[in-house]
Amino acid sequence: MTITDYLPNDLFAGKTVFVTGGGSGINLGIARNFAAVGAAVGLCGRTADKLERARADLEALGARVATAVADVRDYDALAAAFEATLEELGPIHTLVCGAAGNFLAPAEHLSANGFKAVVDIDLLGSFNACRAAFEQLRRTRGNVLFVSAGQAFTPYFAQAHAGAAKAGIDNLMRTLALEWGRFGIRSNSIAPGPIEGTEGVRRLAPGDPKFHERLKRAIPLGRYGTVDDIGQMAVFLASPLAAYVTGTRVVVDGGQNLPGSGLYSQMIMQAMGEREAASG
Ligand code: COA
Repeated sequence: MTITDYLPNDLFAGKTVFVTGGGSGINLGIARNFAAVGAAVGLCGRTADKLERARADLEALGARVATAVADVRDYDALAAAFEATLEELGPIHTLVCGAAGNFLAPAEHLSANGFKAVVDIDLLGSFNACRAAFEQLRRTRGNVLFVSAGQAFTPYFAQAHAGAAKAGIDNLMRTLALEWGRFGIRSNSIAPGPIEGTEGVRRLAPGDPKFHERLKRAIPLGRYGTVDDIGQMAVFLASPLAAYVTGTRVVVDGGQNLPGSGLYSQMIMQAMGEREAASG
């Protein structure tokens, strides 16, 4: 099943969608779904090679694409990327704040700089993108989509940095919904569960297949998500189908977070040898 089995392939014709961190993973999956329904796509990321591969991917779907190497922590670089996108593709209608960084680290092993790096990329980077895109979003009466996570509302072992950053993102999302509603700008977030084949899963779940089997069995829908599960929700939220939806976090995780993070946290603690380390 692809998005165009259900939605017209010109739903976003004439509209520009910008995805930060769009060179790979969930964010590229989001970009692909927008491209499939006719959007022009702007991407930024830190790695030129990844962006060029993503460009080819999206152009093969018929999209007009603009790319810029920019780290979301660098406001001026982002502002320049948005300016270039405006010239090439027209004003941004949907901004996807997707750029994120993460790794497993129990708080007592995490340096202040490690915590800061993740908060800077995820939270400050999302604010930078919104702020720099504001004038374009005002012109289009567009919308912002943030990428949240279960860690925003449930504590996970070894995720103090990501939990703080994602909780901050959801608060920012709700505050912008409140403030920017008067400009016709909507603001929502998506909280993906584990998504098959992504760097997030590679970083946050050890390679042992048994780990994955056990985790999948604990997910009410019995599987990891796909990048299209997230991309389709992104298109829905950005589309007129969700014209009255703002200030909302949509959890797209197959129910993974419903029982809390207990099993995952226990499994990660075990895989990292942290239970033994604490008692030894
Ligand atoms: N455990 C503990 N600390 C870690 C770490 C790990 N696995 N990886 C990085 N850090 C710490 C570093 O030690 C450093 O702190 P220090 O200066 O006190 O030593 C700090 O984080 C910054 O690391 P650095 O590599 O200089 O930062 P960066 O800005 O180049 O990279 C990261 C940012 C760390 C988030 C990096 O993992 C990254 O670029 N990730 C992007 C992709 C990604 O994470 N995708 C998955 C999203 S779910």
